Amino acid sequence: MKKHALTDLNGRFAGEAGHEYERLLAAVPHVPIIEREIGECTRRAVPRKFNGIRFILDLGCGSGLTTLAVAARVNRVCIIAVDNEPEMLKQFKRNVLTQQKLANHNGVIVKMVQDDALRFLRESKPSTFEVVVSGFMLHNLHAITRLAILRQVARVLKPGGRFVNGDKIARDNEKKHRRDLMSQLAKLAQCYDNPKDSEYGLSWIEHYLRDNQLDLKCTEAEVRQHLKSVGLKNVRIIERHGLDALVVADKPK
Ligand SMILES: C[S@@+](CC[C@H](N)C(=O)[O-])C[C@H]1O[C@@H](n2cnc3c(N)ncnc32)[C@H](O)[C@@H]1O
Repeated sequence: MKKHALTDLNGRFAGEAGHEYERLLAAVPHVPIIEREIGECTRRAVPRKFNGIRFILDLGCGSGLTTLAVAARVNRVCIIAVDNEPEMLKQFKRNVLTQQKLANHNGVIVKMVQDDALRFLRESKPSTFEVVVSGFMLHNLHAITRLAILRQVARVLKPGGRFVNGDKIARDNEKKHRRDLMSQLAKLAQCYDNPKDSEYGLSWIEHYLRDNQLDLKCTEAEVRQHLKSVGLKNVRIIERHGLDALVVADKPK
């Protein structure tokens, strides 16, 4: 039976923007830095001495950048990687599963799940995951859905567990945010100005402009408020590169 999507804006990564997703890195060269830091924040949160297997959840795994950054820094864990877009999961299989990039990786197991993030979370048992990570997924959802997801993240994290989210998070200062946006749009236009790349570049420019509309735009103040409202503590922005930032929060023990 076909599963109906619980979240909105499905299909954003089915077309030109999702196809050959990683070509986007030319215009956002800081993304691998944020992915690496997601891996580092995860490593620091996974207890070293532990008998048995620990679980990490990657929401919106896409082509695998976040999963690979985490997998390279942990051992004896099972990473459950969830995404609802078949086009992205095709790339995930190629980058993570088929090429066995994780071979010899200290007992890291990766399981790919095609599902809606909110549905997957709702069907997960409470206190299951040491860490929940997400790379550039939540900004694709309306604020109400983001909050519903965060509530579930807080529920499925183990006490003492950590949420690590690298994402498009607007500065609270609107003038500075607009400067970030203009500079990112200019970079996109510059990177894909060759006629054969223009359709790809345009699809991302449209994507960025859509992300900036009020129903999707997600500010630093909103992120802090949402994370606190679901019971996560010690909310901190670890780093920022223009429009993108890395936020970390912990579930109390
Ligand atoms: C910009 S990509 C990022 C992928 C990867 N985490 C990275 O950092 O490169 C965002 C991903 O979130 C996925 N996504 C968006 N909404 C989703 C939802 N409701 N449930 C599951 N995945 C979703 C998209 O299909 C896409 O693959």
